Amino acid sequence: MADNSKSLTNLPEWKALEAHYAKVGKTHLRELFAADPKRGEKFAVEAAGIYFDYSKHRVTSGTVNHLCDLAEASGLRGRIEAMFTGEKINLTEGRAVLHTALRTPKGATVTVDGENVVPHVHAVLEKMEKFSEKVRTGEWKGHTGKAIRNIVNIGIGGSDLGPVMAYEALKSYSQRGLTFRFVSNVDGADFAEAVLDLDPAETLVIVASKTFTTQETMTNAETARDWALKALKDRAAIAKHFVAVSTNAARVSEFGIDTANMFGFWDWVGGRYSMFSAIGLSTMIAIGPKHFREMLAGAHEMDEHYRTAPFEENIPALMGLLGIWNNNFLGAQAIAVLPYEQYLKRFPAYLQQLTMESNGKRVTLDGRAVDYQTSQIYWGEPGTNGQHSFYQLIHQGTKLIPCDFIAFSKTAHALGRHHDLLMANVFAQAEALAFGKTADELKKEGVKDWLVPHKTFEGNRPSTTMLLDELTPEALGRLVALYEHSVFTQGAVWQIGPFDQWGVELGKALAGRIAPELEAAAEPELRHDSSTNALIRRYRGRR
Ligand code: F6P
Repeated sequence: MADNSKSLTNLPEWKALEAHYAKVGKTHLRELFAADPKRGEKFAVEAAGIYFDYSKHRVTSGTVNHLCDLAEASGLRGRIEAMFTGEKINLTEGRAVLHTALRTPKGATVTVDGENVVPHVHAVLEKMEKFSEKVRTGEWKGHTGKAIRNIVNIGIGGSDLGPVMAYEALKSYSQRGLTFRFVSNVDGADFAEAVLDLDPAETLVIVASKTFTTQETMTNAETARDWALKALKDRAAIAKHFVAVSTNAARVSEFGIDTANMFGFWDWVGGRYSMFSAIGLSTMIAIGPKHFREMLAGAHEMDEHYRTAPFEENIPALMGLLGIWNNNFLGAQAIAVLPYEQYLKRFPAYLQQLTMESNGKRVTLDGRAVDYQTSQIYWGEPGTNGQHSFYQLIHQGTKLIPCDFIAFSKTAHALGRHHDLLMANVFAQAEALAFGKTADELKKEGVKDWLVPHKTFEGNRPSTTMLLDELTPEALGRLVALYEHSVFTQGAVWQIGPFDQWGVELGKALAGRIAPELEAAAEPELRHDSSTNALIRRYRGRR
């Protein structure tokens, strides 16, 4: 029998938050700011290079205390230690969860099954460095003797989203003479377009797959192999044009890639937590080993902050807890991630997998169905583009969508007024969301009565503003680690397991069953539901 006394909603700390919400939940941000002229500074924390202003959330210091009490009661402190010290906290897969070890400095000790993993991490990093330098300097030659000019990363999910996000984010640090393409979708258009203008003799393909069994990645990798062999006409060319990043050496060599050209990682690195492992090989080739190390150092700095800071000053813990407050008490089911930095254009997509594949769960670690909301829906676009698209709904729609604004004091491109205008917009949006515009204010401005309801902004829309100095590799490392640990914080409080993803398996299995039915020469006997049967027949008849 499940022990319901341990259920989240039965905890006294949860009940205290419910009572607290009944008292303060309806207080408008205008009142909160009016009551305390120093609120803007009081509800802000600075650590690991991030100024985290959460004053525009509908919280009082009482709320923060209650949320921190909930984190304590949920055993968050112990769970953090369990993660960092290599306990097998991924229960359903029986694995440790040690993406933090990927950015641990040389000489440290992190033990899994009695073995220190840190020397292994650094051995792979060194192998990656040697290889990256060879590619970057042109020393690594293709089969015909030409230097490599194009890198195509083939992977999906965590083996794509982290690398492509990091490449885009750090483009201003990248070696511009090299072209990078990322292929993920099993839709042939993705591969075809990616290689359309590339010469196979100058192209290096990185097949990035933890398992080396993922249908999309293996299909794209086989197509890439055919594409390369068609031009290079010699199987020996594979050794010069294909490398693998994987935990599965047997499958890599079966595919035809020499395991000397394989960069390994370990089962304790989850796919969506893998961009700092060898999965980041394309990132390292793009930005160089020194900058890659800086990115690791930034993430490590955030790891240390998360591990040691008291919750009320702990940015990832606060971010996670504010999400819980908004989601479970204010009823906000989504979060908009709004980087005011064009280079972070793929950051929301990256976060979608990190957050929703991790905490999109409906049972607790001990198998009880939850009776509360888990992961919010994450989406977003860079500012200011989103302002001319979906912000209308955030300002005046019927849904409450808290926003994460991410901005930088310095820009890589100081062009005229651009950066000041960008920053004016991010500050203005957070201000408008919080304070809105009242009917009285509009009337005083002479707005006609009939227009007043349309022009009224209710305000009281929560947001966080994260202000960093500059989008450097270090800053990117800090930001990614911040969101990783925020996800962890929420998983711990919600009592769910953030490190498995059983929800993607059923679709994979069914696609595996349907593919031969589509490909069969003779009409197959279909045993699906009537809708699926009809769709399959229609497709077979018309393709
Ligand atoms: O979508 C499921 C998933 O297993 C993700 O968790 C993972 O990032 C992705 O597929 C790719 O897996 P692999 O790296 O093994 O190809």
